[in-house]
Amino acid sequence: MTTPTTGKPEEIVLVLDFGAQYGQLIARRIRECHVYSEIIPHDTPAAEILARRPKGIVFSGGPSSVYADGAPVCDPALFEAGVPILGICYGMQLMAKMLGGEVGGSEHREYGKTELTVLDHGDIFRDLNPRLIAWMSHGDRVEKVPPDFIESARTGTALAAMSDPKRKLFGVQFHPEVVHTPWGIEVFRNFLHQQCGCRELWTTESVVAQLIAAVQQQVGDGKVVCALSGGVDSAVTAALVHQAIGDQLTCIFMDHGFLRKGESQQVVSTFRENFHVNLVHVQAQERFLKRLQGVIDPEEKRRAIGDEYAAVLEEGASEIGEVQFLAQGTLYPDVIESGTRQAARIKTHHNVGGLPETLQLELVEPARYLFKDEVRAVGEELGLPGDIVWRHPFPGPGLAIRIIGEVTAERLDTLRDADAIIIEEIRAAGLYRRLFQCFGVLAPVKSVGVMGDQRTYANTIILRAVTSDDAMTADWAPLPYEVLSRISVRIINEVADVNRVVYDISSKPPATIEWE
Ligand code: XMP
Repeated sequence: MTTPTTGKPEEIVLVLDFGAQYGQLIARRIRECHVYSEIIPHDTPAAEILARRPKGIVFSGGPSSVYADGAPVCDPALFEAGVPILGICYGMQLMAKMLGGEVGGSEHREYGKTELTVLDHGDIFRDLNPRLIAWMSHGDRVEKVPPDFIESARTGTALAAMSDPKRKLFGVQFHPEVVHTPWGIEVFRNFLHQQCGCRELWTTESVVAQLIAAVQQQVGDGKVVCALSGGVDSAVTAALVHQAIGDQLTCIFMDHGFLRKGESQQVVSTFRENFHVNLVHVQAQERFLKRLQGVIDPEEKRRAIGDEYAAVLEEGASEIGEVQFLAQGTLYPDVIESGTRQAARIKTHHNVGGLPETLQLELVEPARYLFKDEVRAVGEELGLPGDIVWRHPFPGPGLAIRIIGEVTAERLDTLRDADAIIIEEIRAAGLYRRLFQCFGVLAPVKSVGVMGDQRTYANTIILRAVTSDDAMTADWAPLPYEVLSRISVRIINEVADVNRVVYDISSKPPATIEWE
């Protein structure tokens, strides 16, 4: 059912994934250098890789030892193809082993910030200082470089980089992709622009132009529906598709009643009044509430919302009539996760690939190859309001999975009011963009308090504020005491039936960001 909307530029650098913790970061750094990159499995046959005519290849790191049973390898034909290769950590060790060098286990595991000395400034270290601090995380190390390679950097105890300038093969033991190696981006620039000859084709303007052309080509004069959720991904998708095909697009904005304060009006006015998009505003609040009556189990709640959502969307689409396409805000990390990783199901996400086959609609997914930061840049380029573009991620099931226990209209009002205060105060403190997410959760407990000499027995709001890069891991944010205090005082004074605010100081893992 899926026909990817591509709109990819003509120059590409492929990242072979050897199980790296930082694989997506490598692709993102390459794109920051304005070069398009994609992640592919390490065992992709060379013929398939070369058929895509990559300008360069990067081998990612990985958790294995090159000598372990079943350690991942690449097709050796890649080394003969004349395409420049940069091996990172495990990628460098693999390159060394496969080309006749020696890799050994080390008693001194190098982990964390490590000083290295550059021995050769000829290629990937061009214009960099002779002494640098890099981020290391490895046990094995290259003991002897393969024939024709030179040592291009060393730490006090190990080889830190090697190169074969003739064949344009390079290896680095450190991680140039992480923020702890702040000059790492220069290594990528040198590799991409000097060694691979890549031009800067991946820019926001060119991405927008290519995606618009790709949508036009895929859709022709067909009709498209797009479900708006209020979040940035679906908003940017809708704006892009609208730019591409105008009135052939109809957006369905479903108000399931679990949105944040003011969100519904903002989406409707942005799309109807600013962009003049055909918009069907489905008011399904009562339907969803009824469906959730008596539902307490988090997974059952998610499933119920997901089923209802699909049913309402299907009805909406059939009312519009003769629709052939469904536009969805799928992002590249979703594609990578669903294609390459067999992760245990922690939570059922209803809006990621969860729409029913019975819809029989072809998918239009213009953001399918974009990372979140790129989606935001595209949104700004298309003129979406900053409030939507920079909005924190919000789960499809919305406030319903932030109300622990049964969801009722009254409890929704309580949480919505408290959540609005949290966001207002975080914005006022200038912290909104520094946080990945901040929100309120309504606990299923009441407690005793005292207000104006009266005993109260009222609700508890949990404040959750986290920092994260990609939601896979997260840390609780050390918010300033004054901000915590203002949020607490305001919620208790202004929100009816709340007499206690507590702060969630759990990181992910072992907790998750959302409570359900
Ligand atoms: P957890 O709670 O699993 O959340 O740590 C990770 C990130 O995913 C968001 N989230 C969802 N996003 N549909 C979504 O589109 C969902 O059903 C959903 N559930 C959680 C969550 O807000 C966080 O950013």
